[in-house]
Amino acid sequence: MSLNINDLFSVKGKIAIVTGGSRGIGEMIASGYLSNGAKVYVTARKEEALINKAKELSEKFNTDCIPFCVDLSDIVGIKTFLDFVTKAEPNGIDFLINNAGAAWGADLDSYPEDGWDKVVDLNLKSPFFITQQMSPLLEMKATSDNPSRVINIASIDGIRVSNMAETYAYSASKSGIIHLTKHLAKTLVDRNIIVNAIAPGPFDSHMLGKAVNFDYSFISKMNPRKRIGSPEDIAGLCLYLSSRAGAYTVGETITCDGGMVATT
Ligand SMILES: NC(=O)c1ccc[n+]([C@@H]2O[C@H](COP(=O)([O-])OP(=O)(O)OC[C@H]3O[C@@H](n4cnc5c(N)ncnc54)[C@H](OP(=O)(O)O)[C@@H]3O)[C@@H](O)[C@H]2O)c1
Repeated sequence: MSLNINDLFSVKGKIAIVTGGSRGIGEMIASGYLSNGAKVYVTARKEEALINKAKELSEKFNTDCIPFCVDLSDIVGIKTFLDFVTKAEPNGIDFLINNAGAAWGADLDSYPEDGWDKVVDLNLKSPFFITQQMSPLLEMKATSDNPSRVINIASIDGIRVSNMAETYAYSASKSGIIHLTKHLAKTLVDRNIIVNAIAPGPFDSHMLGKAVNFDYSFISKMNPRKRIGSPEDIAGLCLYLSSRAGAYTVGETITCDGGMVATT
């Protein structure tokens, strides 16, 4: 047993997948692992942006950030990605971070079916099938003392109803992933794979930025902490959930929102 912080929170030498790692919250999470000696696979659809980001992060943290360009919203893309990871890491992986997500806002009367499908496919169906497909690779590395981890990136919009926009599919998908986290956790804990979720509040990203013209001042003012989230906030929580320190936390959804859900 070691309660030294360097052992308790270590992810050194581990292998992580961060879906949607080319920007926003996924980039913040990938950076947290990379800066602490893990190897990270990042995915996105836009190839040039992804390759440039992976190169930038590899150089910045002097370690391996490996890009794989894929649309993960259906099983074909997920299986293509699985083939790649299986060949690259035949001995398995340690962490899977289901982060890639999308939103769609429209009023109730005109909410379109294609918007619903796009959001629910990526935010809810995809994390289920990625976890299903990657679980044998996660299991290869998993032991009782050193369990593998899955972290689903949910949202506080899956816990309470947003007053910012009419994002029906988004809130339903995020609520779904919170319950799916518990169900997967129940099954996979027997295979030494621990599943948890994080429910972020506002963070600087393409998704939120587009909705507020990249001016976060109003959102910051309303937040109990008077700011939006930072890379340290989300990366720190992922490191906790991925390390020895988080190995007895199972099936939980932890908010990372400056106190929005708990205090407002
Ligand atoms: N930002 C916030 O305030 C906030 C708050 C709560 C929860 N979240 C959650 O955090 C996660 C990350 O969001 P973000 O705000 O960082 O969004 P973002 O800046 O839009 O990043 C989304 C990432 O997902 C990738 N992606 C999108 N569609 C994809 C697809 N079909 N297949 C594979 N990759 C895809 C994007 O790359 P490509 O476009 O190149 O595919 C990008 O890398 C999401 O699950 C979101 O719901 C965000």
